Amino acid sequence: MTNRYAVVMAAGKGTRMKSKLYKVLHPVAGKPMVQHIADQLESCGIDEIVTIVGHGAELVKEQLGSGISYALQEEQLGTGHAVMQAEEALGGKEGTTIVVSGDTPLLTAATMDKLLEHHEKQQAKATILTAHAEDPSGYGRVLRERDDSVLKIVEQKDADEREKQIREINTGTYCFDNRTLFETLKQVGNDNAQGEYYLPDVVGILHDKGEEIHAYQSEDFNETMGVNDRAALSAAEKQMKLRINEHWMREGVTIVDPEQTYIGTDVTIGADTVLEPGTILRGEVSIGADCHIGPHTEVSESRIADGTTIRQSVVHQSSIGARVQIGPFAHLRPETSLGDDVRVGNFVELKKMTMGNKSKASHLSYLGDAEIGSGVNVGCGSITVNYDGKNKFLTTIEDDAFIGCNSNLIAPVTVGAGSYVAAGSTITDDVPGESLAIARERQTIKNGYLKNKDSH
Ligand code: UD1
Ligand code: CA
Repeated sequence: MTNRYAVVMAAGKGTRMKSKLYKVLHPVAGKPMVQHIADQLESCGIDEIVTIVGHGAELVKEQLGSGISYALQEEQLGTGHAVMQAEEALGGKEGTTIVVSGDTPLLTAATMDKLLEHHEKQQAKATILTAHAEDPSGYGRVLRERDDSVLKIVEQKDADEREKQIREINTGTYCFDNRTLFETLKQVGNDNAQGEYYLPDVVGILHDKGEEIHAYQSEDFNETMGVNDRAALSAAEKQMKLRINEHWMREGVTIVDPEQTYIGTDVTIGADTVLEPGTILRGEVSIGADCHIGPHTEVSESRIADGTTIRQSVVHQSSIGARVQIGPFAHLRPETSLGDDVRVGNFVELKKMTMGNKSKASHLSYLGDAEIGSGVNVGCGSITVNYDGKNKFLTTIEDDAFIGCNSNLIAPVTVGAGSYVAAGSTITDDVPGESLAIARERQTIKNGYLKNKDSH
């Protein structure tokens, strides 16, 4: 089999993004664009991947990690110059090199595979992935000879009126015979509208030498979309969203409105789960089967078991058992862990706490730094007083305890198994098991107090 190499161009600043963040690090579906490309390349059987870094080099390297190699392009003199930087790593090698841009996040491994196969089967020196664009503005146009063979690529800024009418565009993805690529790059000049060394000029030079050049047209323009500005970023986000949502619908997930449901790339969802509009699932999230999520619910970096319902709530870095009912309007903050059949109602905030099976906090509570057993009922308005302004302390509520409404549990404190805390209590001392704790002032009645009010 032919050796396969890849060059990922990711050194540009992305001036048109008008951003502090380097272009290829802008996320689409929560994942940086260049990471999308790296992940897709991973399944294409590539022997060596070289990423060209420049602007934000350290950040790009940090993002992509150490599994691939990097070449530094100190000055960004154009895409041809970018690929030249890979010469030291790849220059003399025999094989095929696929060149991709870090700003085409929708490109799939399947399309790259087809392009590689086409190129290798035809034994071409270069094969360009092209697409038909309804609006080709901004892209390089593919000029063909009368016999349909590829003549050259003309950049938008160098194109004359007739060339601008062409709707077949250069997607910025190519396959080359590796040696030919590096030999030909040396002949690329920068006498053009942008004063840059253009990688696509390799195509024209090879044509003039009578070499075999192919164009492989992608079926779907959207997949090859290049993101140069925020408008294209949002268009890419939309395409990625619909692609991901379609995948989950085919896996048996009901998505009521795919236009308004945002699922990250590191999410898994079980069959017969329903996602209502306004659901956003970010980072590593796993959702079981038969769950009901949303409307208007954000879940990030969390695990949710089967049959759980979460309505109008925010869940972050938490683990939730089966058949749990959450919301509306609950907030689960990091390190919350709920057992099965738990109920967390409206305006309940949980943080760094565990709650056993069948426990409930149905209304208006803050429970932080707490270990709550199973079968516990936390009454409306009860809170753990976990913070003295300097340190945090633990509240323990053992199995089957009942915390009356509006109680303050001043940590560190333990309420023993099966005990009752009377409503309105401020508990400062441990409550033994199977006891009743009342910690509030007795009610005083001043009979007729207001009858003689004028005399006060
Ligand atoms: C490029 C193509 C154009 C094609 C389009 C497809 C050229 C000259 N033009 O235009 O024909 O239709 O992609 O999306 O190649 N980069 C570097 N170093 C540089 C310059 C760019 O690493 O010196 C990187 C950028 O970070 C980016 C990629 O190369 O990821 C493409 O560069 P960009 O400036 O976006 O090229 P386009 O103008 O989109
Ligand atoms: Ca681009």
